[in-house]
Amino acid sequence: MEHRIYCGRVNDKHINYIVTLYGWVYNYRNLGKLIFANIKDIQGIIQAIFIPRYNETYKLAKTLRNNFCVKITGKVVKRKNINPKIITGHLEIIVSKLIILNKSKNLPIDNNHINIEENRLKYRFLDLRQEKMIHIIKTRSKIMSIIRIFLEKNNFLNIETPILTNFTPEGSRDYLVPSRIHKKCFYALPQSPQIFKQLLMISGLDRYYQFAKCFRDEDLRSDRQPEFTQIDIEMSFVESKNFRSFIELMIIYLWKKIINIKLNKFHVLTFQKAMSDYGTDKPDLRNHLKLINLSEIFIKHNIKIYQPNFVVIIIKQQYCTTKSLHNLHKYNLYISQYNTKDLNILQVSHSGLNNIMFNSDKDGINSLEYIKIHQKYIIHFLNLREKDIIFIGTNKYNGNISSMGMLRTLLGNDFNIINNDSWYPLWVIDFPLFTKNQEGHLISTNHPFTAPKNYDITKLISQPENILSDSYDLVINGYEIGSGSLRINNYKIQKIIFDILKLNNDIQENNFGFFLKALQFGAPPHIGIALGLDRLVMLLVRTTNIKDVIAFPKTTSATCLLTNAPHKVNKKILLELGLGNI
Ligand code: AMO
Repeated sequence: MEHRIYCGRVNDKHINYIVTLYGWVYNYRNLGKLIFANIKDIQGIIQAIFIPRYNETYKLAKTLRNNFCVKITGKVVKRKNINPKIITGHLEIIVSKLIILNKSKNLPIDNNHINIEENRLKYRFLDLRQEKMIHIIKTRSKIMSIIRIFLEKNNFLNIETPILTNFTPEGSRDYLVPSRIHKKCFYALPQSPQIFKQLLMISGLDRYYQFAKCFRDEDLRSDRQPEFTQIDIEMSFVESKNFRSFIELMIIYLWKKIINIKLNKFHVLTFQKAMSDYGTDKPDLRNHLKLINLSEIFIKHNIKIYQPNFVVIIIKQQYCTTKSLHNLHKYNLYISQYNTKDLNILQVSHSGLNNIMFNSDKDGINSLEYIKIHQKYIIHFLNLREKDIIFIGTNKYNGNISSMGMLRTLLGNDFNIINNDSWYPLWVIDFPLFTKNQEGHLISTNHPFTAPKNYDITKLISQPENILSDSYDLVINGYEIGSGSLRINNYKIQKIIFDILKLNNDIQENNFGFFLKALQFGAPPHIGIALGLDRLVMLLVRTTNIKDVIAFPKTTSATCLLTNAPHKVNKKILLELGLGNI
């Protein structure tokens, strides 16, 4: 085989050697006596030069156009006019032989400019030629390889689990696949391999991992795709704390290998603390702003409270620039979308608290009066200094904390409080085992296989809403990167959980009968986690758009603009599938 070199890898060692390169014409200039063309491949660009001495080649080079796919052979020489913008900028190839492997039409997108997302996705195969995209794809591949090496060194087995499967309990809608043979029956695509990985533990395959494709029919966001990849891990005979330390080591190793950053030991926060201090279960701790519950402070000091959730965010004077103070009414607008209807914005002056902005809502006026009456206490307890600004939100409903949490994020960005170059990984632990849904029914906060923490059975049955779970989320810079838990390995407890979730015996038997059976055959204690690979890549390549890190992503309405999936299907096929009446 001839010695192929990548365009972007030509270097001093090759000077005076004849090399062969493959690539695409990035651009060209015909100067009459000389023709220059930059040739690009996955590793970069090199300048090729065509001269009349190689007559046939020179003639052919005149027909070159952008994006033609070519093979060139020639001598590597030093260049007179160095181009400092490219790594090979001091070298060029004097081409003795050119083969045009394929012509190209004019591209419908221009990778030197910003293209609209619709076109990028429609012509994704061209969009992926962009350097930025090549970098992301390479990084993603490297991340997978590093994780694989790490886990295999630790004796984890890579085991695949089915894609055509049954209902899985991750809480989103399933994608269903009709069975041709069993009319009116459907497979479900896995929302995660949760049950299978637990079954593997029962098999005694005590360390499992997989890059698992998961499918969820849910509302999409900038960090959610209907089809995404988990680094799915499960392990037997290890305690939560040790398991978390192991995953922490893996993430620290990954950061070191990919971006040469040494992460500090991960912070640990309980769910309750995360909610009360930051108003979210995935706080970005690069933002030091905290929610302060003024009502609680007042109760401690026997001062009459206005209402229980009087929550304050303080912006210290040094962060307040005239620019950042310009547009304060936007925060009122922002927060009024959520449950906090009443937001007062005040600034400390030598004479007390001056309101800069308050909601015109009747409640707002009342709360402002209350603030004015208690301003001395507020300044004292919050240790406020002149020119500090405070945002006080209040609401009678529960939404207050999370809307103030969102305001905290917005303020962190607007007042430049976040250092974008830093990393803040943390574990959020001890989620409640159950949460109430909109209809007031208890549902699993994680999934129904999560083990309760420090419980007794009577309390589990009588007050399930007060039981915590042995669970943890990995959060980095405000992204939920992973989620996991200790699992129930006891048949009786699993039944109790299903009962609390009001799954009747038929559903238990039909959907989970095989699993309940398996739990009765010496199921070992086991624990696991799933990390969102796509989100990890997002962080490591610093993008906020999940579509950037997936070669062929879906739009926010779950379509593929490249292939036009999902497709209408013709009647004949529907009939075969027993879906004739659709
Ligand atoms: P969970 O549902 O929390 O847990 O998912 C684990 C992680 O997967 C990522 N993730 C997503 N990424 C992109 N698009 C989505 N639609 C999406 N949904 C989830 C997140 C999330 O933290 N079986 C359990 C894990 C376990 O208990 O082991 C599970 O799937 O980063």
